[in-house]
Amino acid sequence: MNFIKSTVLAVLIGLFANTTYAQKFEELAQTPPMGWNSWNTFQTNIDEPLLKGMVDTYVSSGMKDAGYTYFVLDDGWMSMDRDKDGNLVADPKKFPNGMKEFADYVHSKGLKFGIYNCAGTKTCAGYPGTRGYEYQDARLYASWGVDYLKFDWCNTDGINAKEAYTTMSLAIRAAGRPIVFSLCEWGNHQPWRWAKDVGQLWRSTGDIYAGFEKNLSKGSWTALSVLSILDKQDSIRQYAGPGHWNDPDMLEVGNGMKYNEDKAHFSLWCMLAAPLMAGNDLRKMSDQTKSILTNKDLIAVDQDALGIEAFRYYAFDGIEIWVKPLSNNEVAVCFLNRSNHPQTVNYNWKGHVISDSVNKIDYNFNVDTYKLHDLWTKKELGTTAKSFEQTIPSDDVVVLRLTK
Ligand code: GLA
Repeated sequence: MNFIKSTVLAVLIGLFANTTYAQKFEELAQTPPMGWNSWNTFQTNIDEPLLKGMVDTYVSSGMKDAGYTYFVLDDGWMSMDRDKDGNLVADPKKFPNGMKEFADYVHSKGLKFGIYNCAGTKTCAGYPGTRGYEYQDARLYASWGVDYLKFDWCNTDGINAKEAYTTMSLAIRAAGRPIVFSLCEWGNHQPWRWAKDVGQLWRSTGDIYAGFEKNLSKGSWTALSVLSILDKQDSIRQYAGPGHWNDPDMLEVGNGMKYNEDKAHFSLWCMLAAPLMAGNDLRKMSDQTKSILTNKDLIAVDQDALGIEAFRYYAFDGIEIWVKPLSNNEVAVCFLNRSNHPQTVNYNWKGHVISDSVNKIDYNFNVDTYKLHDLWTKKELGTTAKSFEQTIPSDDVVVLRLTK
């Protein structure tokens, strides 16, 4: 009898544990999500005409064809107050036809629709937060057809991060619509250690800005440069993989950096298997910016099915070599010159075995010879039988795809 009781108890605990820890929609984001987000260019200055124009350009510019799928509204879409039933309301001045109509518009163009809120009492820009309304807000998003939720971390004094994000994840699950859950907790509580079963991606750092080398003080907080975000990724690469990604923040390509800096930023994010969320004004996108954001060869590196983040294999005197194992025994190698002057790299492939110790993958160029394909110039650059020599300008990259 006792045996039966304890067996039943064990089964019940098992079921409960299952609903507690495996709540997220497992099939989503098998490769890093790609899309566009309103924040980096527009902050809270968004409205329906502007955004519908952006949706149209998203499609006509070739972004959609290049693989970008999500159209995400960031902070600023709401009215300052919930309605009498406690529901969030789209700002009627900004969205006179309501949010469902806007979501339908996004879907009618073959895109997926994303929205933003916050785990705290208010969003970072002071709009109503979700604290205490998790299940109600999740049901509302599901009724609008939301496909992606970015969930921020402002105004959360006294709240436990893991609990707060788990509650929202359970609320999304209960609402029944598969929604990609993007945790935006800035890495404060190491979400890579606990969020794998909670959401599909988690921010690993504070906010990016369109600067390559130096951080920028904003008074009460510091906006991070591309390189300082890069330096925080290598040590957490083992936590990322299909369905659970480290998010080094959205792209600043086309927002004011130099061409080579934009190119390096995009290349490094692809090497990191980062979510690729463009944040530029697509309507004013230059051909150069478009050529970066839609570089199919780089996007293929980002979207590779193995979902392995690159590791920093070598760093000396401003030159770094990042290595990203790819499926079919291929590998991407990125040479970065982060010094302030041009440098010539001369790399002898046969000199060392390149080892990914996390994934137990070795590249021994004495045993195997690989062809080198330059993913920016599109040139074939010989094989690993010979040393690779090239001069790389300051703050620029060369990215090679190696095929046996
Ligand atoms: C935080 C996030 C940003 C953006 C703003 C909106 O700073 O990290 O990405 O969503 O809030 O207020």
